[in-house]
Amino acid sequence: MKRPPTVAVIDFGSQTAQLIARRVRDLGVYSELIPWNAPAEQLAQAEAYILSGGPASIYEPNAPTLPPIVLESGKPVLGICYGMQALAHALGGHVAPATAREFGHTLVEITGDAPLLSGLPRRLDVWMSHSDHVDQLPPGWVALGASHNDNIAIMGDIARRRYGIQFHPEVQHTRQGMDILRNFLFDVAELEADWTPANFIEAMTEEIRDRVGESRVLLGLSGGVDSSVTAALVHRAVGDQLTCVFVDHGMLRLGEADEVFETFQQAHGIHLIGINAAELFLEDLKGVTDPEEKRRRIGHRFVRVFEAEAARLAAASDGPPYRFLAQGTLYPDVIESAATGREQAARTIKTHHNVGGLPDDIQFELLEPLRYLFKDEVRRVGLALGLPERVVWRHPFPGPGLAIRILGEVTWDRLETLRQADAIVIQELEAAGLYRATSQAFAVLLPVRTVGVMGDYRTYGNVIAIRVVTTDDFMTADWARLPDDLLARMANRIVNEVEGVNRVVYDITSKPPATIEWE
Ligand code: XMP
Repeated sequence: MKRPPTVAVIDFGSQTAQLIARRVRDLGVYSELIPWNAPAEQLAQAEAYILSGGPASIYEPNAPTLPPIVLESGKPVLGICYGMQALAHALGGHVAPATAREFGHTLVEITGDAPLLSGLPRRLDVWMSHSDHVDQLPPGWVALGASHNDNIAIMGDIARRRYGIQFHPEVQHTRQGMDILRNFLFDVAELEADWTPANFIEAMTEEIRDRVGESRVLLGLSGGVDSSVTAALVHRAVGDQLTCVFVDHGMLRLGEADEVFETFQQAHGIHLIGINAAELFLEDLKGVTDPEEKRRRIGHRFVRVFEAEAARLAAASDGPPYRFLAQGTLYPDVIESAATGREQAARTIKTHHNVGGLPDDIQFELLEPLRYLFKDEVRRVGLALGLPERVVWRHPFPGPGLAIRILGEVTWDRLETLRQADAIVIQELEAAGLYRATSQAFAVLLPVRTVGVMGDYRTYGNVIAIRVVTTDDFMTADWARLPDDLLARMANRIVNEVEGVNRVVYDITSKPPATIEWE
């Protein structure tokens, strides 16, 4: 049986809805985002409800409505923004259409006492984003706070443990947001903080076992954090029923394939099949210089290699069928609203972006045990599963690998050159203790040659660019201000140790206007 969320966050479509579930989990209570129109069974087992904000106006035709179970259950409720309005509307209060929009940073004055507000200052710094507001409380409710233009900003039915707040406690700009959520979880709803990586692993292990039964599971392992943690988790649940396939497309970094085998096969005893398809991939890339074309060809070949292996395994197997394909899809990959079809759209983008993406008609059921987690939660789970720090804290590596870091045509020689230069960048960054402080670091091989001098000879050699960035979300990024002497060591070692390279440059552009990768 799948573990039901202790707190169901009901999704009315706000951009920050997924953050609410994450904050609740940060406070140690298991929480999931659930669409407002999900079947009642999905909501029934929650011990408390939080209603998210949303872009609709409550009187619009087809506006999302409060699922009846929320009130019928008698369980504690916290409505946020649209969630507060939906609550007021359902209980006989009144919501006024916009007079003045309140957007951004605002002050809220607390005007009453309630467990939700215990320990808070009388003035809250909050973040609002709404047009409509509640102008008439439902019967039995009291106003507990007002915004500076006297709108009801906090309301409550204290005896029934129901509250509404017009601002967003989940965003960082609401300074006391975590305190309010904490009060709701522990003082109002009297929940226990029992959500830890170990508990997640326990619950998910059981869930995977139940779902998979006697069947077998296939997983495309890339060595990245997401697929690694998925592999370790699924393996813990179903052991040898899991087969991992690692496709070496030849565009990997130095020692990468060996490391994957060491970690998974040797240390964890996971059944891992390595496929060295480098020649096929290189053949496909002959003469190709356009970055998108490189991605397309690598993506296509990857799918074909993986499918062929899946078919081979299925044919060779005399045991139960391979019914499941495990994937390391994370929460941010999935925009959580099945109601609007956004989920479908979001997932298509991801599959196109990732070389690991497989076509829709593939004959598997998907197993995505991490789909409710954010990256940092996945890392904590990975550590709790005993994966090495090196794997858990690895920088992301693009699916097409070094192919998009070799500007111009990809050849084996150029791959070897880049692999060596790249390894030096990473080794020196690690030696300086700066790997964790940066988000992505790599070398790029440029398609030009420049003049140099070595000994008494003039050289005409390759240029390596070093790219090291810091970023939170990879949508924007800044170049890392690495110490001069570290850059000097990288450059020195590269020109001395990597044959054919006589010049090293450091990329000092941010994203935007540049991107992180050079192709
Ligand atoms: P850019 O270059 O767009 O990169 O600033 C943002 C992040 O995405 C990664 N990236 C890719 N990942 N397949 C992937 O799986 C790709 O084709 C691809 N292109 C870029 C990049 O490494 C960075 O982390």
